[in-house]
Amino acid sequence: MALYLGLDLGTTALKAVISDGASRIVAAASVPLRINHPKPSWSEQNPDDWWSAAVLACKKLRPQLAKVEAVSFSGQMHGLVLLDRALQPLRPAILWNDARAAGEAATLNTLDPKLADLAGVRAMASFFAPKLLWLQKHEPKQWRKIHCVMAPKDYLRLRMTGVAASDPVDASGMWLCDVAKRQWSPALAEACGVSLNILPPLLEAPALAGHMTADAARALGLKVGTPVMTGTGDAAASAIGLGVVGGNDGVISMGTAAQIIVSKQMHVPAPAQNIHAFCHGLPDRWFQMAALLNGASPLAWLAQTLGAKDISKLLQPIEPAMSKPCPVMFLPYLNGDRTPHDDPAARGAFVGLDHMSDRTVLARAVLEGVALSLSDCYDILKSTGTEPQRLLIIGGGAKSPLWTRIIASALGRELLVAEAGEYGAALGASRLARLGHTNEAVAKVCQFPKHVRRVKPVPRWAETYAAELPQFRALYQGLKSIRDTA
Ligand code: XUL
Repeated sequence: MALYLGLDLGTTALKAVISDGASRIVAAASVPLRINHPKPSWSEQNPDDWWSAAVLACKKLRPQLAKVEAVSFSGQMHGLVLLDRALQPLRPAILWNDARAAGEAATLNTLDPKLADLAGVRAMASFFAPKLLWLQKHEPKQWRKIHCVMAPKDYLRLRMTGVAASDPVDASGMWLCDVAKRQWSPALAEACGVSLNILPPLLEAPALAGHMTADAARALGLKVGTPVMTGTGDAAASAIGLGVVGGNDGVISMGTAAQIIVSKQMHVPAPAQNIHAFCHGLPDRWFQMAALLNGASPLAWLAQTLGAKDISKLLQPIEPAMSKPCPVMFLPYLNGDRTPHDDPAARGAFVGLDHMSDRTVLARAVLEGVALSLSDCYDILKSTGTEPQRLLIIGGGAKSPLWTRIIASALGRELLVAEAGEYGAALGASRLARLGHTNEAVAKVCQFPKHVRRVKPVPRWAETYAAELPQFRALYQGLKSIRDTA
């Protein structure tokens, strides 16, 4: 049976999956990636390190690689990769979780409000185009040398094929795409001072972009001439890996950051609510996304701060204490916020501490604070007319049965836990390789998971969280007004 390789260039790891013609994962590997923070709120990675991670991941998959018929990609979105005339990186990539371009994003939002409808979202510090504006101002020498810009996963493909390209999902995440038309937008490019000449051709995610060169084949252990499909941003790739490609399905992805993604048959912009309306990674499909910058990471932070090596032990005493509401409330914005507040300077808070506030209370407050922020975003999605029929939950944060029940209760609806969600985006990438190679129907390749665990809300908890949500929102607003007057 033919095999397909999907590479998911994440922020903390590069994951690789080989799947077969029935979308079964036959081999998987993961290689960690380091993030550099040269200044507070800056976040960078070296594109050469991505390539080394891809080489290492392929090495771990060697026995199966010989049968791989096609390759494709998923990748962290919004990261800025700059190349010179020789297609060499000009500087480290500036990542999605880098907030240096907050001022540039704010400036872009003072221009014509129609730009946000075109782009599917207001400009935000995470995005690619505000970072380009920052670069123009602060690193003019590098700016003048730019021959081509691209997203992180595009760089891996360039190293494999020599072909520069991007796809409509990453173009959406750049804030340079006319999302309805799925093409570069001259109006957005002009607003951002970007020449269309430095933007690579846009190809749909399952489209053939090029073939494996002899050098790349030797480094990776793949066949020379292997077809390489364009690939897409990780939000879309996770959805494809889970079969969230129809008109009314959704997924909550609980990684370092969190997203609620709902697939759509058309472009549905809602920029006033800071919902991202982006192209999906399949032709003629779009998605709406609430992009939260704090998913599973606040719990990882707390565990590390408390020196709790085993997170499940930290969470174990929580449930017996849940007959009463938690006395402490937690705001999870450790990494700033995109949806709903678009506030890179937002920060976390514990409120209501007393002498009884032990590690169990703090851990419970963190689980509930993240759940309340998901509920806040889910309400906003509903206010745009979007309410998915089936809603999956995946990622590291979905591994705790308690946390998924808390989230289901905060959202007041059933969630479906998908097994093997951990490799969702890489599996999505391998499905893109298969789609491009075989031209099979999307419905056949991108199936919804067969085995899911149903998680129902706990009625008493749901009542408590519904009562707490207005306080949670007011707490953010209160702290913001203190920041604003400081
Ligand atoms: C999506 C987003 C993250 C990054 C990193 O908008 O910011 O998913 O793609 O994974």
